[in-house]
Amino acid sequence: MSTAISPLHDFVRAMPKAELHVHIEGTLEPELIFALARRNGIALAYRDIAALRAAYAFTDLQSFLDIYYAGASVLRTEQDFYDLAWAYLAGARANAVLRTEIFFDPQSHTARGVAMATVMGGLTRALEDARARLGLSADLILCFLRHLSEDSALETLDQALPFREHLIGVGLDSGEVGHPPVKFARVFTRCRDLGLRVVAHAGEEGPPDYIWQALDILGAERIDHGVRALEDPALVARLARDRVPLTVCPLSNVRLQVFPTLAAHNLLRMLDAGLVVTVNSDDPAYFGGDISENFIGLVEGLGLTQDQAVQLARHGFEASFADETSRALWQARLEQYRDDRTIA
Ligand code: HPA
Ligand code: ZN
Repeated sequence: MSTAISPLHDFVRAMPKAELHVHIEGTLEPELIFALARRNGIALAYRDIAALRAAYAFTDLQSFLDIYYAGASVLRTEQDFYDLAWAYLAGARANAVLRTEIFFDPQSHTARGVAMATVMGGLTRALEDARARLGLSADLILCFLRHLSEDSALETLDQALPFREHLIGVGLDSGEVGHPPVKFARVFTRCRDLGLRVVAHAGEEGPPDYIWQALDILGAERIDHGVRALEDPALVARLARDRVPLTVCPLSNVRLQVFPTLAAHNLLRMLDAGLVVTVNSDDPAYFGGDISENFIGLVEGLGLTQDQAVQLARHGFEASFADETSRALWQARLEQYRDDRTIA
């Protein structure tokens, strides 16, 4: 990485953006893990924050998920979920995020005896405060854990129904390989019938066929990651034709060894292929950077230009599930920002 601070770093930090792929449990910083463990009287397997951080050396998705679910186990009370979400939302606001669509994994909490109402209560209160006090537009996407059964997903959907008005959509996450989208065909049909928007992680570690299944069987309107789409020209043509957005997370992909380095990432090739690519942080507390730092990584690793940065941010607003009026307003703010701040 170059040590010189490029003016483009400041430009992307203050650039209006949308974040469409962030797991709230993945925003849990080590400091908050220790604070919540103390508050809840939980003994941690790590002596201190440095020891915990030292364990963040991942070789693939599963090696990350093991630590990610262990970290989330300190979340017990409604206030814990509030504090978690509020910390993320305040940071997002400081990064000029105008719109965020936040994933959460209720099964990783209900399986530990935490009630759905506790999870939803804390998250929705933080989002309401973010709207009122930060002027931030935020909504929730409930993710089903794909390593669990479809029956477990159906039961989770039932538990979430009393909170239907607080959900904008549903997604599918956790260990991908061996758990194809088709395993969840029935539960996603129910979700679509309920009017929920549909996204799914696919093509992170799994093959292009999982992306086809997410589109054609689950009815996914966006694909989370989707970086393996480039292996299948017919799939690229389909995604480009239908302008199906791909929520790409560069730092995540490097930390989980999907690509060896940022310089080897295929994001610019995806953009060149006419795909609606967006930039996101995935699990910023674990992967070494928030959404701005993901943009900066692309500037440093791939030579991302200002025009490409603006294009990616434009895609973020286009891909958002917010109403058309809000999306047009944010896009106009982005164009104004570009006009005012163009670097000579
Ligand atoms: N992939 C799958 N499951 C996840 C991820 C991811 O990147 N982050 C949190 N859960
Ligand atoms: Zn993810």
